[in-house]
Amino acid sequence: MAKDKTIYTCQECGGTSPKWLGKCPSCNAWNTLEETRAEPVSPGKNRMQALARGLNAAQPVTTLADIEAADVARTPTGIDELDRVLGGGIVAGGVVLIGGDPGIGKSTLLLQALDALSRQMKVLYVTGEESGAQVAMRAHRLGLDGSQVRVQAEIQLENILATLEAEQPAFCVIDSIQTLFSDQLSSAPGSVAQVRECAAHLTRTAKASGCTVVLVGHVTKEGALAGPRVLEHIVDTVLYFEGDTHSSFRLVRAIKNRFGAVNEIGVFAMTDKGLKGVSNPSAIFLSTHSEPVPGSCVLVTLEGTRPLLVEIQALVDSGGPSPRRLSVGLERDRLAMLLAVLHRHAGMACFDQDVFVNAVGGVRISEPAADLAVLLAIQSSLRARPLPKGFIAFGEVGLAGEVRPAPRGQERLKEAAKLGFTVAVVPKANAPKKPIEGLTIHTVDRVEEAIHLVREL
Ligand code: TYD
Ligand code: MG
Repeated sequence: MAKDKTIYTCQECGGTSPKWLGKCPSCNAWNTLEETRAEPVSPGKNRMQALARGLNAAQPVTTLADIEAADVARTPTGIDELDRVLGGGIVAGGVVLIGGDPGIGKSTLLLQALDALSRQMKVLYVTGEESGAQVAMRAHRLGLDGSQVRVQAEIQLENILATLEAEQPAFCVIDSIQTLFSDQLSSAPGSVAQVRECAAHLTRTAKASGCTVVLVGHVTKEGALAGPRVLEHIVDTVLYFEGDTHSSFRLVRAIKNRFGAVNEIGVFAMTDKGLKGVSNPSAIFLSTHSEPVPGSCVLVTLEGTRPLLVEIQALVDSGGPSPRRLSVGLERDRLAMLLAVLHRHAGMACFDQDVFVNAVGGVRISEPAADLAVLLAIQSSLRARPLPKGFIAFGEVGLAGEVRPAPRGQERLKEAAKLGFTVAVVPKANAPKKPIEGLTIHTVDRVEEAIHLVREL
């Protein structure tokens, strides 16, 4: 096939250059030129006539009320936790991107899904990273001998598109998008240009044929999906694997979903027979202390539709001249803010201390309702006094020292009571209307109130 001409386009201003340059000749930005395929420039006949009149031909427009809102049909994959993050199942023509660290279980989960779906539809697994034999070995390990999944070891986009045309699968997994290359571009597989070009082609094919396409994407060292965010715009759904590769638990989080709720999480455990869904995960992020220890506070967080209990640990220790603030699973900027609030509004200073905070189990917490638990864990470590046994807290903390309510507080409290927790400190507005059996609930309006309260407990 003859190569189309390629040009280099600036990602900042859209300026072009026939060859690669370090600096964009139009806007002088550095390192912004990316290889792209040159579009044919000669306009067609209609376009010429329209241009002569100075206008395009008018296109049909519909009134919103006249468009029928068709609910998309979903096909469950049979893996409940995966269906949960997908918003119920796969959607025909939908494109899903799954990102995650190497070795976290992307290929494993997808092979399990492929096998389950192969019982009701035609599925295709395109592997660019492993040979067919390696895939077969994994299938054997997963106990999927005799699986009807069609497998192709291929990395050239044009060949894959031809296979899709010939096989007409209803579900196709590309493992991974970074290994693909299109012979229309001369840049290496995995480069932004190649990733974008290949993803765009596959997306178009998915929409045209109604095949659901899952793209596996690698995460760069900085933690972003390679092909800087370009893919996130193209696809319908973005799922992220998170969790600690040292523990057996894996979380799959939806960070974008055109067909369902975001921030829903699926919880899996990696076993010697692949990934198994954990249907009741609320207590897996608690570590087991026989007696309460200083610097530990249990938080009830709400991820998607399920409350989770997560232990927040803090260690405050005398630091050097420039003390460190480190956080694992929580935002560091938020930690700095909380330390300032703690100092200003509750008079507890940590400015000469190293402060480390950690969310147990490799879970990542982004909701501000974690603030109160983080503050209480820090003050507990600072004073070397444990919080009472069976203690939980949640609530957002503001710069003025106020404690703001968290969404769906009642549900959080009920979950904590169900798991045997007995004392809770929560924002005033989250006080339940009826008492919750087994749980003593203290409500607070301000940070200083909360700090004062836990000293008395
Ligand atoms: P894999 O799915 O290959 O990861 P990715 O595609 O995200 O790079 O996951 C492989 C890891 O999972 C590897 O370290 C072995 C482990 N594993 C199990 O523990 N049990 C199993 O049944 C399988 C198939 C893999
Ligand atoms: Mg893999």
